[in-house]
Amino acid sequence: MAKLAVNVDHVATLRQARRGIEPDPVIAAAMAELGGAEGIIVHLREDRRHIQERDLRLLRETVKTKLNLEMAATDAMIKIALDVKPDMVTLVPERREELTTEGGLEVVLNKESLKSAIELLHEGDIAVSLFINPDMDQIKASAKIGTDFVEIHTGIYSEATNHEDIERELDRIIDAIKLAHKLRLGINAGHGLNYQNIKRLTGIKEIYEFSIGHSIVARAIYVGFEKAVREMLQLIRGE
Ligand code: PXP
Repeated sequence: MAKLAVNVDHVATLRQARRGIEPDPVIAAAMAELGGAEGIIVHLREDRRHIQERDLRLLRETVKTKLNLEMAATDAMIKIALDVKPDMVTLVPERREELTTEGGLEVVLNKESLKSAIELLHEGDIAVSLFINPDMDQIKASAKIGTDFVEIHTGIYSEATNHEDIERELDRIIDAIKLAHKLRLGINAGHGLNYQNIKRLTGIKEIYEFSIGHSIVARAIYVGFEKAVREMLQLIRGE
């Protein structure tokens, strides 16, 4: 059965809205583990819009499952990764102006630079995953340059609204996963997965782990809001 790794970036997004200390993604990560998460994921972006280096370093000390660092394959980020030593690095494309990671890595056209990033991370005993679109050429190129895992981008599937588009993208995902499995790559999947669209993916036995963030943080607000209001009311009423 696939594992669940929880991305806590958007807990930090809320904290950064006030540049304060709460909510703390480090505490949320511990709570996610209490809830059964088998991995914690953070994306340390160049613009530090949500996760900060402080979060990453504390998480390295506190995460009891596995810590997966999403990052761009830049010299500066590789230096941080080699210093902090997460269990896995997921290399992702990064554009400053994007709201979230928009597409998979262009592995075919960047084989050499990605290969050297993978080698440097391997020298530091860090496993590597490449976030890629469900595309045969990208999978073949990923296998050639020595990555341990690929993470299949489920964003197009997640955003599809009509039956035809959903089925077409599901087929692409399944074909990509079959090829990655044949090439002996580990397979993660994520982006845009929620409490509805996950159902069509849970039967794919080659998926090792789902990477899910936004929908879980959103759900946490709904399931926790009533209690939070009640507690404040109790204080106001002196109960
Ligand atoms: N996988 C990758 C590579 C991502 O960049 C993200 C978003 O940070 C996710 C998974 C999680 O996506 P979501 O927040 O939509 O669940």
